[in-house]
Amino acid sequence: MINIALDGPAGSGKSTIAKAISKKLNILYLDTGAMYRAFGLMAYRCGVDAKNAVEVEKILPLVDIKVKYVDGAQRTYLGDEDVSEKIRENHVSMLASAVSAHQCVREKLVELQREIALGTDCVLDGRDIGTHVLPNANYKFYVTASLEERTDRRYKELVAKGHTVDKDALKEEIATRDYNDSHRKFAPLRQADDAVYLDTSNMTAEEVVDFVISRIK
Ligand code: DC
Repeated sequence: MINIALDGPAGSGKSTIAKAISKKLNILYLDTGAMYRAFGLMAYRCGVDAKNAVEVEKILPLVDIKVKYVDGAQRTYLGDEDVSEKIRENHVSMLASAVSAHQCVREKLVELQREIALGTDCVLDGRDIGTHVLPNANYKFYVTASLEERTDRRYKELVAKGHTVDKDALKEEIATRDYNDSHRKFAPLRQADDAVYLDTSNMTAEEVVDFVISRIK
């Protein structure tokens, strides 16, 4: 059984790397951020303040998040609705970060993540995979890049999708999200002691993938 953990802040390139590794090694890719995004979207639709633990806990029994694989790619569902595209909208990022701070949300989603990961070879990306979700993962990487570079990557990604984006506001948002994700009480973003640290600021996606694969081999 192979479990590869990729953790790091927003926009560090984790998902690009994870997708490439999953293809090269022919293993599953589990995007755990998508689950927190789906939860954040659900809170928004229910009119719940994502920061309010009591309100969020009330909708917990209603939240039915599933992941399915279509042609090897993850699709994320809220009940029967495929929300894979909706959860990529920029406003959902902050909602995901806010709901992810609550212990009850993390417990529910981590259980699902472990269920999937422990039954199959896979690469997972997130914030707490190496430290909390799968502390015994065979391979762990902590992937990061400068705030400037991460903003630039996210900006290009959103613009390519046809969104109009204020780059300064985006930078501010990413910095706030990093702060929130690394300062929350439960399973914050942190490099696992046994993870390989990788600053990708001056690396192409291909170079990063080659590096990670070489460490795995
Ligand atoms: O990876 P992403 O940007 O799609 O994640 C969205 C948010 O979800 C992120 O700001 C924090 C939260 N998250 C988390 O707390 N733990 C994870 N394993 C993955 C994401």
